[in-house]
Amino acid sequence: MVAHIGTWIGTGKPGIWRPQLDCALVDDPRFAALAAAAGAGVSFAQAVALVTGASDPSSIGYAIARNLASGGAKVVITGSRDLERITATAQQLVAEAGAGTVLPARVNQGELAELDQLLDHLKGQNLALTHLYPFAAVNHPQLFVGIKPEDYLKVFSVNVFGIYHLCARHARQAPRNQPWYVIIPLSPNDGRLQGSGLYPATKQALRPIVVQGQNEVGDRRNGHYIGVSIAWTRSALMSQLDAGVAGAKAAGLKVFETRDTADVCTLAGTPAAHILKGTVIDAAGGFGAIDPKDMAKVFSGGH
Ligand SMILES: NC(=O)c1ccc[n+]([C@@H]2O[C@H](COP(=O)([O-])OP(=O)(O)OC[C@H]3O[C@@H](n4cnc5c(N)ncnc54)[C@H](OP(=O)(O)O)[C@@H]3O)[C@@H](O)[C@H]2O)c1
Repeated sequence: MVAHIGTWIGTGKPGIWRPQLDCALVDDPRFAALAAAAGAGVSFAQAVALVTGASDPSSIGYAIARNLASGGAKVVITGSRDLERITATAQQLVAEAGAGTVLPARVNQGELAELDQLLDHLKGQNLALTHLYPFAAVNHPQLFVGIKPEDYLKVFSVNVFGIYHLCARHARQAPRNQPWYVIIPLSPNDGRLQGSGLYPATKQALRPIVVQGQNEVGDRRNGHYIGVSIAWTRSALMSQLDAGVAGAKAAGLKVFETRDTADVCTLAGTPAAHILKGTVIDAAGGFGAIDPKDMAKVFSGGH
């Protein structure tokens, strides 16, 4: 398959991004200091970012890309479907951000050759990624007994292999003279949410990037590898579960809006995040601790 890469959109105006989320949503005790350091606003004027899975305006990736662009960054956004649609999303993003520039690209994260084409394209423009957000992922709504042989490659290619490939290649062409950030989207769903098929396995498989990347590459090269354990966030990915939101809240869980999760992930890409290097931010809203049977009750109306 061939990547389809558009052209840069936007004026490249400078800007300042300010987080808007309520810090009480995030259980991680280290988070308040991270958010406080950005209280006066953050400039991303020197940032060149790749956010995969940002083609849908309701996705977490889109909201992260908008944050970065509003701080004046150059941001590449990807999706797996047609370039025309991703270009329309990029235009919307630039209008909402009021700053920065955005490059739309149709690049399937499950196709390593397409990822290579995108990275080669950026290298050809002398752009080295200061921020990598590999946020594209597919759901796998399936019961454990329903997992089929053909599912393994399909789901792991997008959710795992493409992300490892991006991270390994990025480590070889990361900037030399400034800090850089690789933010890994993790999930507290380790199988406790019924009917998730291979999705939990793929998210758990990404955890070593945070530790291994930091130890083997980041510590020598001014790089930050940070995981975010993401709570139930009302994006397209979770839209079929919207009916369970009230039950989840009644069970004491925190449900995030897309913008909240994006703010946590954006903060992970700011200088104050250096205290979090090689670790995972707990923004899971309590989902990592709920008993799977109580989780099932949330959806059956038992809570
Ligand atoms: N939402 C949650 O509750 C939650 C919780 C924990 C972790 N996360 C993680 O957070 C990240 C973002 O999730 P989200 O909720 O924003 O998901 P989403 O709403 O489903 O958006 C996913 C995006 O990925 C794109 N995409 C899908 N397959 C792709 C592929 N093969 N190549 C390139 N792009 C592809 C989609 O666009 P196209 O259709 O155009 O390809 C879409 O823009 C994911 O890694 C997810 O696992 C989410």
